[in-house]
Amino acid sequence: MDGRDFSGDTRGEVTVAARAGQPKGKIHFRRCGVGPVLLMVHGFPLSGEMWQNQLQELSSHFDCLVPDLRGFGDSSPIFDGWSVADFAEDLACLLEGLQIENVIFCGLSLGGYVGLEFLDRFPEKLSQVVFCNTRAEADDGVAARARRLMAERVRREGNGFLSREMLPRLLAEVNQDAELQPDLRQLFRAASVESIALTQIAMANRRDFSGQMANGICPTTLVGGDDDRITPAEQMEQWSDSIPGSCFWRIKRAGHLPPLENPAEFNRVLRSLLS
Ligand code: MLT
Repeated sequence: MDGRDFSGDTRGEVTVAARAGQPKGKIHFRRCGVGPVLLMVHGFPLSGEMWQNQLQELSSHFDCLVPDLRGFGDSSPIFDGWSVADFAEDLACLLEGLQIENVIFCGLSLGGYVGLEFLDRFPEKLSQVVFCNTRAEADDGVAARARRLMAERVRREGNGFLSREMLPRLLAEVNQDAELQPDLRQLFRAASVESIALTQIAMANRRDFSGQMANGICPTTLVGGDDDRITPAEQMEQWSDSIPGSCFWRIKRAGHLPPLENPAEFNRVLRSLLS
């Protein structure tokens, strides 16, 4: 891939390096559009498919780059000992493979945890960051234990319970009957048991980045969903108050997944990054 003409919708793969005991793998991506590169990183346990509305509507403003994190979508599996930092290292390899020097990084929830690691390791590769429905704090003991229990349960029972139990919590009350439920159920079912278990453990072990952005390293935008019960908008706003010069946007009629629940308003936020 030469990283120049992506005005059409391109799908590709980049081989990512072997690291401490981990074999090489492939990162699958979609790329579409012209303008500054906008790297959009999905939440758990989804894939790049969750950014479909953004690929369709933002490609005349941005060179949209949408990977499947390793373990999800069409990318290679992950292994015991996988960490959130490994996801970030993979994304740096992806950019190197595509000869992209810097990006606007937009991560939702798990994608935001990956963004914080990325910002810590590769600040020179970032022109702006957008953190959606995510948090800088590490898990406390209770949350980490719940993730380990979920990892055990998914290995025991398979992934069927996940969409039944998680999906209603992800969507705003007004979107509980929305037509996007079937698509999301399909994405949940597509995630492998091992990816779900290993990513839960990786998230339980993730580093704490609260306070890390107080020095305003990079222009920062925070996005919260009005009815997000997982990462409440109030928490996102408080986080924004602690980051000098940052912007906060509260998306109406959205829970934990504003890019899917209210794409028109979410896309307006992303377009505002250009002004
Ligand atoms: C996500 O949407 O990626 C998850 O809510 C992340 C998490 O479980 O903390």
